[in-house]
Amino acid sequence: MEPMAWINGDITHLAEATISLEDRGYLLGDGVYEVIRVYNGFTFYFQAHLERLHKSAEAIRIVLPFRDEDIKKAAATLLEKSGYKDAYIYIQVTRGSARRDHLFPEETKPLMVIYVRPLDPLLPLDQVKPVSSITLPDQRWLNCHIKTINLLPNLLARQKANESGAVEAILYRQDNTVTEGTRSNVFAVIEGVIRTHPESNLILSGVSRNIVVKIIKDLDMKLDEQSFNRNELKKASEVWITSTSLEVCPVDFLDGSQIEGVHPGPITAALMNEFRNEISRSCGEV
Ligand code: PDD
Repeated sequence: MEPMAWINGDITHLAEATISLEDRGYLLGDGVYEVIRVYNGFTFYFQAHLERLHKSAEAIRIVLPFRDEDIKKAAATLLEKSGYKDAYIYIQVTRGSARRDHLFPEETKPLMVIYVRPLDPLLPLDQVKPVSSITLPDQRWLNCHIKTINLLPNLLARQKANESGAVEAILYRQDNTVTEGTRSNVFAVIEGVIRTHPESNLILSGVSRNIVVKIIKDLDMKLDEQSFNRNELKKASEVWITSTSLEVCPVDFLDGSQIEGVHPGPITAALMNEFRNEISRSCGEV
């Protein structure tokens, strides 16, 4: 079993995969990406990720060089050749390779790279550990709905969190509005109501976020897709983050203070459970 890569249609071992030094993703960060989870050999919400990839690419004026069917076929071939059942699929599209220039090259074909890497199978829910978070200023640009490969502010915040012993940094804008995590969306229960930042240019519209929003609505729980500020976050009775790799993950500490109550709290636990059910429905028992 070995990680495999696909580069504009050619399959190779990941370790031997090469792209041009002048690829605009490498030189200029001129590209977009997606990360898709594979459970039991089945992809989870692949179509939703592809739809977001189209939106991201369109927002930076890249036309995807392959059709959805080709991308899905490529991913299936990579999974089959690598033999992975639990894995993630990484897809990146850049504007291609050209002499370095800020202007878009005229005749360059975009480059699509897909590769797979193995992941550990899911832990039973009672072994999922809550994560501690710190809050940090959101220093990103104003197009956070685009899943661009320019991740420097996210990386710096995540690194800072790690160096202070936390797993995630929850970001807030200058007016104290909480946006999202460095690689996750954030939910909080404030005065009995579940809150999360509405879809806008200030957050990535997370595939996991949107699954959780649907679950909350299906369960008839109270949800307010209204942003909240840092002070409200500190008073929340439950906080959790969502992402493709973290699923629904409880937060137990915020800026060094423990959130009162059990972890996960009752609402978080119900959503973790329902999220797992959704994985099972989509990918078989996990
Ligand atoms: N991160 N917000 C940001 C800034 C993210 O980078 C991510 C995902 C999310 C959650 O999106 P989703 O539920 O679709 O995974 C929210 C991916 C997994 C990453 O960069 O590895």
